[in-house]
Amino acid sequence: MKRITILLILCLPVSAAAQKFKGLAPTPPMGWNSWNTFGAGISEKLIKEMAEALISSGMQQAGYTYIVLDDGWEAGDRDKQGNIICDQRKFPGGMKALGDYLHEKGFKFGIHNCAGTKTCAGYPGGRGNEFQDARAYASWGVDYLKYDWCSHGSANAEETYKTMRDALYAAGRPIVFSLCEWGNNKPWLWAKDIGHLWRTTGDITDCYDCQDVYAMGWKFILASQVGLEKYAGPDHWNDPDMLEVGNPGLSFIESRAHFSLWCILAAPLMAGNDVRKMSDEVKTILTNNEVIAIDQDPLGKQGYQFMTHPGKEIWARELSDGDWAVCFFNNSDNPVKIRVKWTHLSFLKGTYKIRDLWQKKDIGTTRDDFIGDVDSHDVVLFRLTPAK
Ligand code: GLA
Repeated sequence: MKRITILLILCLPVSAAAQKFKGLAPTPPMGWNSWNTFGAGISEKLIKEMAEALISSGMQQAGYTYIVLDDGWEAGDRDKQGNIICDQRKFPGGMKALGDYLHEKGFKFGIHNCAGTKTCAGYPGGRGNEFQDARAYASWGVDYLKYDWCSHGSANAEETYKTMRDALYAAGRPIVFSLCEWGNNKPWLWAKDIGHLWRTTGDITDCYDCQDVYAMGWKFILASQVGLEKYAGPDHWNDPDMLEVGNPGLSFIESRAHFSLWCILAAPLMAGNDVRKMSDEVKTILTNNEVIAIDQDPLGKQGYQFMTHPGKEIWARELSDGDWAVCFFNNSDNPVKIRVKWTHLSFLKGTYKIRDLWQKKDIGTTRDDFIGDVDSHDVVLFRLTPAK
C-alpha cells in the first residue's frame, strides 16, 4: 500500500504538468512553408531569399509570420550523442543562426520533423528522442513544430503526439505544435489539448479536382471538411493542409476560390508558392486584407457548408460583431448565374450591408436579391454587416 502511494505521488506532478502551451494560436497561424514548391530541396540560402521576398512583397505585413522549414533540413543521421542535426551543406550557419536571422527580420521560426522513426523523405524522425529533440528545437529558437506521421509502425497516434507535447512543454519554450497525422485517427476528436492545429487530410497538390490519396485537389479536400467545423476554435484548429495559391496547377480563379474557402474554413494560411517569383495577380489574392480578416476573425468560429447543389455551394462563417462571411462557389465546369434571396439563408437575422471582398466594393443590402454570374470553379465572397 505504502509503495503504491509513493508511486502515485511520484507520477502525479508529471501528468499534472503535462499540457500544451496555451494561447499561442488565438487565430489560425499564418506563414510560408517550403514543402509544396521545393520538397526536400531546401537550404539556408533559399529560406533567406524567401524571407526577403515575403518582406518586399508585403506578405509579412499581411500577416504571414511563420517561416516553416519542411522535410529535408536534417542530416542523414543523428550525431554520436543522438542529437538531431541539420545538413551542414544545406545550412552551413546552423539552425540557431537561421532562427536568429528570422527573428531579426520579424518572422517566427518553424520546423518539420516526424513522430515516426523516419520522416517521409527518409531523414531521422523523432520517435524515442522526443525530449532530446524538443530541447534542441528550443535552443535553436524554434517557434512552430510541424510533426508528421511517416514510419510510425504500430505506434498509437494520441499517445505519440502527447509524448512530443510533453517534451515541448518540458523544454520550456512556447512552440506551436502542428500535428500532421493526415486525419487517419480523427485527431479532431482527441488533439484539442495536445496541439494547436491538426491536419484533417492527406497531402494537398496544386490541382483543382484530383482525388489521389497522396495528391488531393482542394475541391476534394473541401468536401471532406464538412462537419468538422464544430471541433475547431481558438488555439485548436482543423488544418485542411497548406495553400497551393499561385502554384502552376491552379488557374488564377481556382487559386482565388481555394483561398476564399480556406478562409471560410478558418484554415491555417501557410503559403506554399515561390514568393520570389509571385505574379502581381497572385499577390492580390494572398494579401487581400479583407479576405484574410475572415480567416483571422477573433470569434474563431470555423465556417460551414450551408447548402450544396450541382453548380453552387453556399458556405457561411459567423464573424465577430454579428457579421457573416458568405461564399458562393461554382463547383461545376460551366459558368452559372446565381440568384439569392437572402431571407432563404436562415442564419441571417434582419438586414445586412453587403461588401464584395474580391471587388472591394459595397454592393447594397440584403433587402435586394443578389443576381450574379459566377465563372466555373470561381467564388463570390461577401462580408455581411448588420445594417443599423
Ligand atoms: C507528409 C506531409 C507533408 C510534408 C511531407 C514531407 O507527406 O503530409 O505535408 O510535410 O510529409 O515529407
